[in-house]
Amino acid sequence: NGGGKGGRGALIVLEGLDRSGKSSQCARLLSFLQGKGCATEGWRFPDRDTSVGKMISAYLANESQLDDRTIHLLFSANRWEKRSLMESKLLGGTTLVVDRYSYSGVAFSAAKGLDIGWCKAPEVGLLAPDLVIYLDVQPEKAAERGGYGGERYERVEFQKRVAEHYHSLRDSTWKVVDGSLPMETVEEQLRELAMNCISECQDKQLTNLPW
Ligand code: TMP
Ligand code: MG
Repeated sequence: NGGGKGGRGALIVLEGLDRSGKSSQCARLLSFLQGKGCATEGWRFPDRDTSVGKMISAYLANESQLDDRTIHLLFSANRWEKRSLMESKLLGGTTLVVDRYSYSGVAFSAAKGLDIGWCKAPEVGLLAPDLVIYLDVQPEKAAERGGYGGERYERVEFQKRVAEHYHSLRDSTWKVVDGSLPMETVEEQLRELAMNCISECQDKQLTNLPW
């Protein structure tokens, strides 16, 4: 873990609407932590490299059609297929900076009208993050950013419903960061949150999502 204490790594998740700046901030945070000598990897969900991930990717690109519950379970399966590797990395002292996780899974599917309890159920037993950073950006502002509208869920009305569901999922591990601030300001806040989290969770047990 770079700290030399032999503790476990931290599971740090970034969440937010499409075009909220998650991917850029994940990359910046990753290089900062690595530069500090912390063993850190950047992960993302969906992981489009697996065979399940390829099905998800085709669905998002509107190249395939899938029933709402079916795609929900594929997103979940895509996390399950990474769970044991995730656990061994963390226990081995590697911190993971993860671009989207189960909260995306629930918020996006619930925004289609699926029952929240049903959406949460397949996530039960996945690892609980130590820190969830929510990049808060107005759906209208996100839509003005480059590259918007290319994939299935990138519509303002839909993203507004996603934001409401994200809001209802907030718990004690969440920190909300104003994603409309300048990139460097956001970056600075994320660095501090991440460093605190890494040092605090070294001796903490890994747990599962409380859902
Ligand atoms: P990405 O743009 O971060 O690659 O995510 C692709 C889309 O998939 C994004 O609109 C959010 C959505 N999504 C879900 O609907 N369920 C999930 O479990 C995840 C991880 C993402
Ligand atoms: Mg996207």
